[in-house]
Amino acid sequence: MTTAPTRRRSFGRTRRFDGLVVWITGAGSGIGRACALGFADRGAHVVLSGRREAPLSLVADACRARGVEATVVVADVTDEASLEAAVAVALEAHGRLDIVLANAGCSVSGRVEELSSTEWRRQLDINVIGLASTVRVALPALRETGGRIGLVGSVMAYVSVPGTAAYAASKAAVRAIGDALHLELVGTGVSSTLLQPGFVESDIARVDNAGVLDLTRPETRPTAVMWSGARAANVMLNALHKRQRELVFTGHGRLVTRLARHIPGLLYSMMAGPLASAVGAGRPSSAR
Ligand SMILES: NC(=O)c1ccc[n+]([C@@H]2O[C@H](COP(=O)([O-])OP(=O)(O)OC[C@H]3O[C@@H](n4cnc5c(N)ncnc54)[C@H](OP(=O)(O)O)[C@@H]3O)[C@@H](O)[C@H]2O)c1
Repeated sequence: MTTAPTRRRSFGRTRRFDGLVVWITGAGSGIGRACALGFADRGAHVVLSGRREAPLSLVADACRARGVEATVVVADVTDEASLEAAVAVALEAHGRLDIVLANAGCSVSGRVEELSSTEWRRQLDINVIGLASTVRVALPALRETGGRIGLVGSVMAYVSVPGTAAYAASKAAVRAIGDALHLELVGTGVSSTLLQPGFVESDIARVDNAGVLDLTRPETRPTAVMWSGARAANVMLNALHKRQRELVFTGHGRLVTRLARHIPGLLYSMMAGPLASAVGAGRPSSAR
């Protein structure tokens, strides 16, 4: 059982989450893994979930090496019973839950004319309903601690380009969930933060539309504007600490979001004109 939270300094950095208990979905890779390590560096005990146990165990070992407790729970966000079991395991192991990071997600790609209903359902089941279910099962425990919720969305909640309709639709839905949830939680002591990344190093582009990870698939995203996981985790954890309503990050992500919010006409005419080849307009996704 985790001991009560304390505050102390370690390695010259304030351990601002000292003794708190954090549950992260999709913690075995990418942004979830980076946040797990970031929380561990700041003194939080971590509960790590995902469908594959092996990568979660590696992350748990890396967290324990940082001096915190780590618990692995295999849970699929599309299976409500496994999410409820994850909360039960967290409470059994640590006695409390202070933060949930609803991070698990995937990117189903393809043009609207190509995407099957199965692909649409998979995208929305994981990114939208899985995220909302994660929040629902965690909320009773978070109300006990005046906790924090992080919802991992995307800058694609604001801008959609050819081949990304399903993913962008899922992230627009996450944004809508975050906006409503933030207001629903007023006065409860629990906060909700929408975390909207641009490009961050991860495995997301190596998972196909059926959910199969192939590490030999090339990284198709622009690495020049991509942040490391550690850099992303640093700003995400700060926003959660400050109980910010929303954080849009990576410089590129902020620029695109500002254009989409304030001068969408210019952005979309550029994408239909000079930037058309860069965003793949007019071509089937198989040609990209
Ligand atoms: N990286 C970026 O540039 C970027 C940008 C904007 C937003 N995001 C968002 O960031 C989040 C994390 O993605 P990532 O980029 O770090 O990709 P990633 O490395 O592929 O990580 C996604 C994680 O989600 C887990 N997951 C997938 N389906 C799941 C399910 N049904 N149930 C439980 N866990 C599941 C995966 O683990 P298992 O396969 O073991 O389940 C994996 O660890 C996603 O919500 C993504 O949309 C990423």
